[in-house]
Amino acid sequence: MSGELQQLEKDALAELAAVTTEEQILAVRTKYLGRKGLLTGLLRNIAQVPDAEKPLFGKRCNEVKNSVNCKIEDALKVQLTRKREDLLLKEKIDVTLPGRVVKCGRIHPVIQVRREICAIFASFGFSIVEGPEVELDYYNFEALNIPKDHPARDMQDTFYIEENIVLRTHTSPVQVRIMEKMKPPVRILSPGRVYRPDSDVSHTPMFHQIEGLLVEKGVSFADLKGMLTAFLKKVFGRETTLRFRPSFFPFTEPSAEVDIRCVMCNGRGCRVCGQSGWLEILGSGMVDPAVFQNVGYDPEEYTGFAFGLGLERIAMLKYGISDIRLFFENDIRFLRQF
Ligand code: FA5
Ligand code: MG
Repeated sequence: MSGELQQLEKDALAELAAVTTEEQILAVRTKYLGRKGLLTGLLRNIAQVPDAEKPLFGKRCNEVKNSVNCKIEDALKVQLTRKREDLLLKEKIDVTLPGRVVKCGRIHPVIQVRREICAIFASFGFSIVEGPEVELDYYNFEALNIPKDHPARDMQDTFYIEENIVLRTHTSPVQVRIMEKMKPPVRILSPGRVYRPDSDVSHTPMFHQIEGLLVEKGVSFADLKGMLTAFLKKVFGRETTLRFRPSFFPFTEPSAEVDIRCVMCNGRGCRVCGQSGWLEILGSGMVDPAVFQNVGYDPEEYTGFAFGLGLERIAMLKYGISDIRLFFENDIRFLRQF
């Protein structure tokens, strides 16, 4: 049997020396070392070897197995190197070809405007805070001096989640949440999404507002007008025409809304400004003493002003966009322009 073993080793090595491809090498491995392979078969027949020779025979078998296995591994390594070299030769890289352009995302125009406005008010000493979009009726309305069944609720159509929970219709509830937590002086700015069942060229059911609130001793309407004018001239440029128009909000007294001369028609009147020549961008006013009382501020000691601006409206005027709904259609041709 040991003669047979020697012959087997010789044959295997000779066959290995003759093969040239990976498949052929693997075939040799199966033929000799596989489960039904020749060498494996020989080992299985160890029972027929005389007892005295068994240890030596077993040892020789393992030596042959290892040596054949080593040669196979070597041959496979050689094959692998050859394959790599072939590939390197075939796949020549032409470094003079122009590269592929990486497509870059852009920052959404509404977010660009939000960042710009936040930076301007930060330079006026305001800090940025946030409030919840799903809001209690109390903060969205009652604490802002808009009791249930008050006609002022009709000013802002509302999505109700439950009887006392709404999607906030404006960012003004953040004013109350902040004043409940902080003592004056207060200078905060609060950007965020708000919701109303509205839809036309200048209204969408979800839009963005930025709320501003300043409470200190001796703040007057002149401060409100001065700060908002300075801010708007920074955003729209010195030449912009704007107007403060008397208005009403239950949580401010007196109140004013600010309109910007419509850039689409230059004030002549068009579909975007509803033929008025002006586009409303914000509501504002001196904080109503009733709101101060709700949060435990003394209205005799402190005064303040607040404002809420419509971000999409500002972006429309800044970039000359004639339909607010374009901001939310995610048309790449539109978004790419900013
Ligand atoms: C308010 O929401 C008040 N909370 C603003 C305020 C804050 C007043 C603090 C006083 C003190 P108004 O409903 O007017 O006000 O909305 C404010 C701005 O949001 C509008 O001037 C307009 O620019 C924008 N806006 C209102 N509704 C929509 C809408 N459906 N789509 C897009 N923008 C809107
Ligand atoms: Mg308004």
